[in-house]
Amino acid sequence: MIHKTQIGIVGAGPSGLLLSRLLALQGIDSIIVERQSRDYVEGRIRAGVLEQGTMDLLDEAKVGERMHEEGLLHSGVELCFNGERHAIDFVKLTGGKTVMVYGQTEVTKDLNNALHAAGAQIVYEAEDVTVNDFDTDHPSIRYSKDGEAHEIQCDFIAGCDGFHGISRSSIPDDRINLFERVYPFAWLGILVETPPVSDELVYSNTDHGFALYSMRSMTLSRFYLQCAPDEDINEWSDNRIWDELAYRLDDEGAKNLTPAPLLEKGITPMRSFVAEPMRFGNMFLVGDAAHIVPPTGAKGLNLAVGDVRYLWRALIDHYKKGDGGRLERYSETCLRRVWKAQRFSWWLTSLMHRFPEASPFDRRTQLAELDFVTSTEAGARAMAENYVGLPFDD
Ligand code: APR
Ligand code: PHB
Repeated sequence: MIHKTQIGIVGAGPSGLLLSRLLALQGIDSIIVERQSRDYVEGRIRAGVLEQGTMDLLDEAKVGERMHEEGLLHSGVELCFNGERHAIDFVKLTGGKTVMVYGQTEVTKDLNNALHAAGAQIVYEAEDVTVNDFDTDHPSIRYSKDGEAHEIQCDFIAGCDGFHGISRSSIPDDRINLFERVYPFAWLGILVETPPVSDELVYSNTDHGFALYSMRSMTLSRFYLQCAPDEDINEWSDNRIWDELAYRLDDEGAKNLTPAPLLEKGITPMRSFVAEPMRFGNMFLVGDAAHIVPPTGAKGLNLAVGDVRYLWRALIDHYKKGDGGRLERYSETCLRRVWKAQRFSWWLTSLMHRFPEASPFDRRTQLAELDFVTSTEAGARAMAENYVGLPFDD
């Protein structure tokens, strides 16, 4: 069966959903093809810090209402080392900027609800998805569903299908450059019905490794512990987790740690990855399909939203003004911002974690850098500006 649309989108994660929604509000038609079910996509727990630019785009997409009601505005973070916590005040350092703590899962649900209410075309549980003829002016997405073969004929393909998707892997090796760093540790993450240990998120560097004390609401906490990359989750009993969470926090903070039954427990691998370029003829890679950051600093979703923002504006220029300039510049403009966020995510990861191969010298210089970041305005401001999100170039 043949379907026709303007933009064929592969993947119904935050990138694909947001792009489709923003385009629809401008009268540009799209169809999303997703390999998994809607429940599966909405059930994935991921980071939960939104930059101001991300909040603005969700508002533009008219899906920001619940975020403003339920999200928690944060004016800074705390860095903990040598048993003491130090505040980094974003509002003071960046001229009033804040971030919002609101789970990616909730963003996905809000987008899905808006898209479904507006009658959007999303094909879930599509099998054998392929992207075809993207070097021509008649690209297509083929898939099968319930045993029937389908083809979506479109003007452009948006590859929003994440790190393991088919869009990027359809590109021949000699047309794509891949840059990658894999870290010698992972995060064990838990979701637990207990109040946050502090008003702000706490990033802690200890001789047992990194820990992060985050939250989803005033009664729901999200905690992470650095662990080995090949860690067996069964080795981590609830008691061991609570002991480590207490050990990796300052004494005052540890007093606020109230153990409760875990709602969720999982391991997050750590990787930095960029694919260049992000455009191949009439196919554009968006979000995790083109780049992965380690979760320290929570840039993944924000970067994906940055790509969507740029592609959306470029497509509006193309369809409404006949101006292809932004489409031409898509890859270059996105990559400039992507690499800066890559640098920041790598830097914060390196600053906060215990590397297995680190020498006592490395450890001392790491602590000296933490001292610099928390005790000088120059150090604190560089961190704050990056954390709240760098400006868009165009
Ligand atoms: N065909 C169709 N859909 C696919 C295929 C395929 N062959 N392969 C993957 N997908 C779907 C996945 O099931 C997933 O729902 O593409 C979607 C990609 O979503 P994400 O991985 O969430 O990527 P993205 O939308 O770019 O969101 C970026 O998610 O991973 C986090 O840290 C990241 O927060 C960032 C955000
Ligand atoms: C989270 O709450 O999941 C979170 C917060 C900040 C990070 C990473 C993850 O840097």
